[in-house]
Amino acid sequence: MCGIVGIIGVRDVEEQLLRGLEKLEYRGYDSAGIAVFGSEGVNVFKEKGRIAALREAVAPDASASLGIGHTRWATHGAPSRRNAHPHRSAGGRFTIVHNGVIENYAELKRTMLRNVSFQSDTDTEVVAHLVESLANRGLGVEAAFRTALSMLRGSYAIAMLDEADPGVIYAAKQKSPLLIGVGDGFAGIASDAMAMLHLTNEFIEIMDGETVTVTREGAVLKDAQGKEVRRTSFVAKLNVAELEKGPYAHYMMKEMDEQPGAIRRLLAEYVDEDGRVSIPEDVRAAAREADRIYIVACGTSYHAGLVGKQLLESVAGIKAEAHVASEFLYNPPLLSERPLFVFISQSGETADSRGVLVRIRELGHKTLTITNVPGSTLSREADYTLHTFAGPEIAVASTKAYTTQIGVLAVFACDCARARGVEVAFDVARELSLAANAMEVVINEKEKMESLVWEYLSSSRNCFFIGRAMDYYICLEGALKLKEVSYIQAEGFAGGELKHGTIALIEEGTPVVAVSTQRAVKHSIRSNAQEVIARGANVCMISIEGLEEAGDALVLPKVHEALAPLIAAVPLQFFAYYAALYRGCDVDKPRNLAKSVTVE
Ligand code: F6R
Repeated sequence: MCGIVGIIGVRDVEEQLLRGLEKLEYRGYDSAGIAVFGSEGVNVFKEKGRIAALREAVAPDASASLGIGHTRWATHGAPSRRNAHPHRSAGGRFTIVHNGVIENYAELKRTMLRNVSFQSDTDTEVVAHLVESLANRGLGVEAAFRTALSMLRGSYAIAMLDEADPGVIYAAKQKSPLLIGVGDGFAGIASDAMAMLHLTNEFIEIMDGETVTVTREGAVLKDAQGKEVRRTSFVAKLNVAELEKGPYAHYMMKEMDEQPGAIRRLLAEYVDEDGRVSIPEDVRAAAREADRIYIVACGTSYHAGLVGKQLLESVAGIKAEAHVASEFLYNPPLLSERPLFVFISQSGETADSRGVLVRIRELGHKTLTITNVPGSTLSREADYTLHTFAGPEIAVASTKAYTTQIGVLAVFACDCARARGVEVAFDVARELSLAANAMEVVINEKEKMESLVWEYLSSSRNCFFIGRAMDYYICLEGALKLKEVSYIQAEGFAGGELKHGTIALIEEGTPVVAVSTQRAVKHSIRSNAQEVIARGANVCMISIEGLEEAGDALVLPKVHEALAPLIAAVPLQFFAYYAALYRGCDVDKPRNLAKSVTVE
């Protein structure tokens, strides 16, 4: 959470920083700020809320060519102007932006900084004061910066300006993402390449524990002992056009529409010359060796993991478990002898998942990350990566990342089956391609889906989603989507479970979305729907061709049953979208959320 950017050596640096921050806004949007080195020294501008509010407040200085910026997702201290970054040291010499959490900030305040008067409630401010107090004791700036960092516990990506030196940005990284961007006569740092793509596509990775001094001429990287590190740059393959909304009102709609194309793209990447899906040999070997697969993820990615567990067991005959990352370390399962860990993460930066990855590596087990961002932390730190090829996902609510995760999990399960000599009863490449076509058909039914939202959800404060078997997992995701973007309280239930308590909440008019795509449970889910109808519920039945009945609200085109989650997810995403629109919610940036959750 939080996004940082720093740029040196460009004209209109304020505008360049603001453009960078706009691209990082998905990381948090509680407040934003920039600090710019102008003719009078360092000027700080900050505002509560979105970058648009900050833009209004910034007074450009024609002489400025160096600055740092921040967009915040509040962890310590309320979302307010006072707590907005950048923060300055007491003497005003150092100005800092930070992404992460300084876990020992209270202890540092009590010990090293007890005579300092703090201007904010953040954990970040201690860093500015620490560097200044060390510099005041005679350390050079680089040494003071490195010494201050060595006193911090927690996670950080930091950029710092020194009022005494208008030619440099100091930066450092520990567990939070940070890249160096390089160009002709300018350089910078950013939490994500997207924040500098308008200036360059050439980047250098920074590793945990390293510090960087960035000047117009480029960047010098040093390890924690101050020894220079040389690393070659890489070219980010992101396409700037993919980051734009184009004719769409919201990224979420654009990304939902992109799903069939994204499934086709991943198929093209994973199909070999014989037309069979195929994953890299080393990943296949790791899966063949494993006696059990442990899937670890958060939120929507966890919901994809539940589908993946089902596919691995039913298609490939491999024992599999899916776990919520934030619980895993505190309530670990008994591990099998030869486990393979699969981390699923759109961003590849989620701190809860990374915490598990670090522990699993310490234990010496093999790890695979399925992600949309191949250069991300979870990808770099795992033994293997499978890319989902969804393309950049900007809306905070995950849509195409989720369906492509399921697509890759289907490919993975089928490849594992083959590697183990288990016969797969269907041609996954063909069925995925048919599923992409079917998704397109559903996406073209926007008007119908919008009218269903009007009929079932327009006046409701709550909603239940019920399904059985694989449909239950889809219901969990449908409920999460609805609550995060429309703020309607929603819960997903296994159809048979409702009567064990929650049915008490059903009253006249309560909306219940029931999903029926699985033949084995087609009768039992209908019975569950009848149980709530009998108590007054307004049931919106979504079924699939072959299982439909008269009066169903929506009948999805037929796809292979194992891939039904791909298509059943689509109307539930659109329900969430239209419900949010009706309620006047900020579809792409729901309150209190951030796209990349880099704190535990
Ligand atoms: C919901 C959503 C989140 C993420 C979760 C994990 O729409 O996007 O629940 O799925 O925060 O994020 P990643 O997949 O980046 O690890």
